Amino acid sequence: MHVFVTGASGHLGSAVVPDLLAAGHHVTGLARSEQAAATIARSGASVRHGRLDDLESLQDAAREADGVIHLAFRHDLMGQGDYAGALGEDLRAVEALAWGLAGSDKPLVVAAGTVPFAVQGHAGVLTETDTLPGGARIDAENLLVAHAARGVRTAAVRLPPVVHSHLDRVGFVPTLVALAREQHAAGFVGDGANRWPAVNTLDAARVFRRALESAPAGSRLHAVAEEGVPFRDIAAAIARGLHLPDPQPVALHEVEARFSFLAGLVGVDNPTSGAHTRTVLGWSPEHPDLLEDLATAHYFTLGDPA
Ligand SMILES: NC(=O)c1ccc[n+]([C@@H]2O[C@H](COP(=O)([O-])OP(=O)(O)OC[C@H]3O[C@@H](n4cnc5c(N)ncnc54)[C@H](OP(=O)(O)O)[C@@H]3O)[C@@H](O)[C@H]2O)c1
Repeated sequence: MHVFVTGASGHLGSAVVPDLLAAGHHVTGLARSEQAAATIARSGASVRHGRLDDLESLQDAAREADGVIHLAFRHDLMGQGDYAGALGEDLRAVEALAWGLAGSDKPLVVAAGTVPFAVQGHAGVLTETDTLPGGARIDAENLLVAHAARGVRTAAVRLPPVVHSHLDRVGFVPTLVALAREQHAAGFVGDGANRWPAVNTLDAARVFRRALESAPAGSRLHAVAEEGVPFRDIAAAIARGLHLPDPQPVALHEVEARFSFLAGLVGVDNPTSGAHTRTVLGWSPEHPDLLEDLATAHYFTLGDPA
C-alpha cells in the first residue's frame, strides 16, 4: 500500500514509518520543515512538503494514496497555551483527509486519546465502545468515525497518556522526570492510586499498521498495553532513576507549581481496556512495559523536553 503519513517526523511517526516500511508498504511523510524532511528521508520514506493547515494539499495527498495515517498535532500551539487553536487545526485536517478519501473505501487511521474521556468524568474502565458526544479531541474522533458512512474505512486509535520507549523524548514521562529533577522531588496527588494506562511506542506502531490493513470502517481502537499503572508507582520509578527520596503526596495548593501544565492530569484516573482491539486486530504487546522502561537509563539521560 502507498501510505501518506502526517506526523511522520514525530515520536509516534518514528516507530510507525519503519514498521510500515518493514511490512512492505511505501510511505510518504508530510514535512513542514527541512529538518522534518531530513528525518523522514533518513527513515527511508518519501517526503511531501506541506503543513497541516494547507487543506487542499492534504486532500490531494490523501486522494493520491492508498491509505492515510494522521499523527500530526500542533503540540507547539498547545505549548503556547492555544489548545483550542491546535484542536481546530486538527479537526480541519481530519476533515480534509477524509474528504480526500470519500467514496474510495480506503483506510484513514487517526491518533486520538484516552485521557479526554477521564477529563470529562468517565468513571470505570474505558472500553472501545465508550463514546462521548463531543469535547477536546473527541470532536475529531467523532467526525472521523462519521466518515465511514461516506465510503472511508475510518479508524480512531486512542492512545494512552503514556507512550513510552527509547524513542520518547518530549512526552509526559520526560516532562515528569524533568520536573522532578528540577525540584529534587517526585510526588503524586492524594494517595497516588489513580491509574495511567500505557503502551510502548513500538507496540503502538503495530496497532496503527494493523488498523490500516484491516480495521473495519468506523472502528474505535485502544493502543493500550497496560490498563492502568498507579501514578505513585510511576513517581517511585522516577525517584529511583534520579536517586531522589521516595515520592510524597503533593498538597493540593502546590499541584500547579509542582506539575506545571500536567497539573490537571496527574490526579486523573484513566483505566483503559484494550481487549476489543487485541481481538479485532490480533494484536498483543511485545515490548517492555512502562516500569521496565523506567528502570533503564534512557529517561534519566535525556535533556529537558523543549
Ligand atoms: N506521545 C504520546 O504520549 C501521546 C499520547 C496520547 C496521544 N498522542 C497523540 O498522538 C499523535 C502523535 O503524537 P507524537 O507523540 O508523535 O507527537 P510529536 O512527537 O509532537 O509529533 C508531532 C508531529 O506533527 C508534526 N506537525 C506538527 N505541526 C505540524 C504542522 N503544522 N504541519 C505539519 N506537521 C506538523 C510534527 O512535525 P515536526 O517534526 O516538524 O515538529 C511531528 O511530526 C498526536 O495526535 C498526539 O497528540 C500522543
